[in-house]
Amino acid sequence: MRILVTGAAGFIGARVRAALTAAGHDVVGIDAMLSNAHGASARVPDGISEVDVRDASGLAALLSGVDVVCHQAAMVGAGVDAADAPLYGSHNDFGTTVLLAEMFAAGCRALVLASSMVVYGQGRFVCPAHGDVDPLPRTRADLDAGVFEHRCPVGGEELEWRLVGEQAPLRPRSLYAASKTAQEHYALAWAEATGGSVRRVAIAGDQSITVPRILAIHSGTRFSGGDWIGIRPSDRPMSEGPI
Ligand SMILES: NC(=O)c1ccc[n+]([C@@H]2O[C@H](COP(=O)([O-])OP(=O)(O)OC[C@H]3O[C@@H](n4cnc5c(N)ncnc54)[C@H](O)[C@@H]3O)[C@@H](O)[C@H]2O)c1
Ligand SMILES: [Zn+2]
Repeated sequence: MRILVTGAAGFIGARVRAALTAAGHDVVGIDAMLSNAHGASARVPDGISEVDVRDASGLAALLSGVDVVCHQAAMVGAGVDAADAPLYGSHNDFGTTVLLAEMFAAGCRALVLASSMVVYGQGRFVCPAHGDVDPLPRTRADLDAGVFEHRCPVGGEELEWRLVGEQAPLRPRSLYAASKTAQEHYALAWAEATGGSVRRVAIAGDQSITVPRILAIHSGTRFSGGDWIGIRPSDRPMSEGPI
């Protein structure tokens, strides 16, 4: 198959591109080489075209004969402050809409969309004494003491994490999460309008491990917990399709 991978120079996109190439597919990789992902003077890796997904004509030139688009390009992370909102909207949402329009024009009807568990909010937490609870925000005192687990809103106990089911309600709580949720909505609407198919891939970095790790890094504390990022195909595809 001929597969267009967006964000092909990124952490996940590079691995997806390598795996697809190794599996014998004809892979077209594009990336805009955002400075917040690659630094200011990074050069585009060999074999990848420097194309921004917001650039309709750049995409059109590459979409001819493409069977599937694997859309990994996004501005990721929490951002600095609310001033970053237009960047999330532009790269993640406007970019996705341009990509979907150009796929439509090129007759490509199969999309793999990289989603994130952030669309579900902060995850699922269980108190040993009180069961499922909505955790309190972390306190400064806990963070300074290297305690990164959330606490129970009833009794203050340290909470345990649980896997979040994909039927959980969408509760984006950051600009990034809002932009990832909007990507899903655009992709679903596109699939319904075009008869296309969307396979949504939730990137399952276990949040109760990932978030403490990130906080630990930011606060200069060592965190000895697990460190894995799994990618698993959604068992709730947005629409059934051939991929
Ligand atoms: N890494 C994770 O743990 C994780 C978790 C959840 C979701 N995701 C999702 O997976 C996808 C890939 O994430 P990643 O971790 O590889 O991030 P990354 O920052 O390493 O890669 C993203 C790539 O997209 C490129 N890009 C951004 N905007 C672009 C644009 N407008 N046009 C073309 N290229 C553009 C960047 O230059 C970068 O190379 C993203 O959609 C992200 O939301 C990742
Ligand atoms: Zn409790």
